[in-house]
Amino acid sequence: MLLAEVLENLQVRPGRTFLDGTVGGGGHAEAILKASAPNGRLFGCDRDGIAVEAARARLSQFAGRLEIRQGNYADVGEWIERESCDGVLLDLGVSSPQFDRPERGFSFQDGPLDMRMDPRQGATAADLVNDWSGEELARIFWEYGGERDSRRLAREIVDERQGRRIERTGQLAGLIERISPRAGRKTHPATKIFQALRIAVNDELGSLRRGLEAALNVLKPSGRLVVISFHSVEDRLVKEFGRRLSRDYEPGGETDRPELRRPRAPQLKLVRRKAIVPGAAEEKENPRSRSAQCRVFEKLGNLPAAASE
Ligand SMILES: C[S@@+](CC[C@H](N)C(=O)[O-])C[C@H]1O[C@@H](n2cnc3c(N)ncnc32)[C@H](O)[C@@H]1O
Repeated sequence: MLLAEVLENLQVRPGRTFLDGTVGGGGHAEAILKASAPNGRLFGCDRDGIAVEAARARLSQFAGRLEIRQGNYADVGEWIERESCDGVLLDLGVSSPQFDRPERGFSFQDGPLDMRMDPRQGATAADLVNDWSGEELARIFWEYGGERDSRRLAREIVDERQGRRIERTGQLAGLIERISPRAGRKTHPATKIFQALRIAVNDELGSLRRGLEAALNVLKPSGRLVVISFHSVEDRLVKEFGRRLSRDYEPGGETDRPELRRPRAPQLKLVRRKAIVPGAAEEKENPRSRSAQCRVFEKLGNLPAAASE
């Protein structure tokens, strides 16, 4: 996804060190390793053990300059040294191999209602759907899915589960479709509900908040951070992170009164004000790229100490 744009904005060159925090199927990782040959290094990370194995196999020819671990990108500070990377890539969301396997529970094809990226981690989507209160479900449907009909759909789910537990993706997708028929929409009526559940099951926004800070810590001054997101909830968080750290002042109180602002050195530069989006050709070839937004930041170095008089 946005391969040429990612390589260009990460400034991939021989001899440099990169982190791919969401190595997935290894497509970006392979391109980074090729473009940084013969001596560039890559750390790779993914919370999905199956993805890690697949990426290791695909990238075996680069073994000498590659280290891949299973884990959350928010925890890379535990194994990657501070200020050791020239570039960090986070390509958020679900990978095609995860989406295409019904047994992972991410898609509408019938399978267990699971959605855990790391199957060693706790609650599944079925646990949330069957055990959370109607209010909690309505809140995530609205906050993480932007679903306007969140309350009604949550109420119907609560009614349905009194008869029998909702354990299958097909059962949930079918229920939503019955309540809220397709009526000419391009996307499945349960798309927003599935997105909200996935975000909640994997605490994706919590990981992203911690992960952006972790990425900044492992970057060298002048290093680049490239983040690709797939929906507005994620993109808003990434944009706000960039805005906050690129300001040259501490906001003045809760309402940011200009007279109360305190100057401080910015930590980031926005390399581009607007997000990069896929061109028509990429969208046609890969319809899943349709909603991708790519933001690019550069870590600023320590400013030189003020000259003494
Ligand atoms: C869109 S795919 C990445 C595709 C990859 N760039 C490629 O070229 O094949 C997103 C991947 O991020 C992983 N992921 C999502 N959140 C994560 C997190 N907090 N920590 C580590 N990996 C995560 C998912 O398991 C998935 O494999």
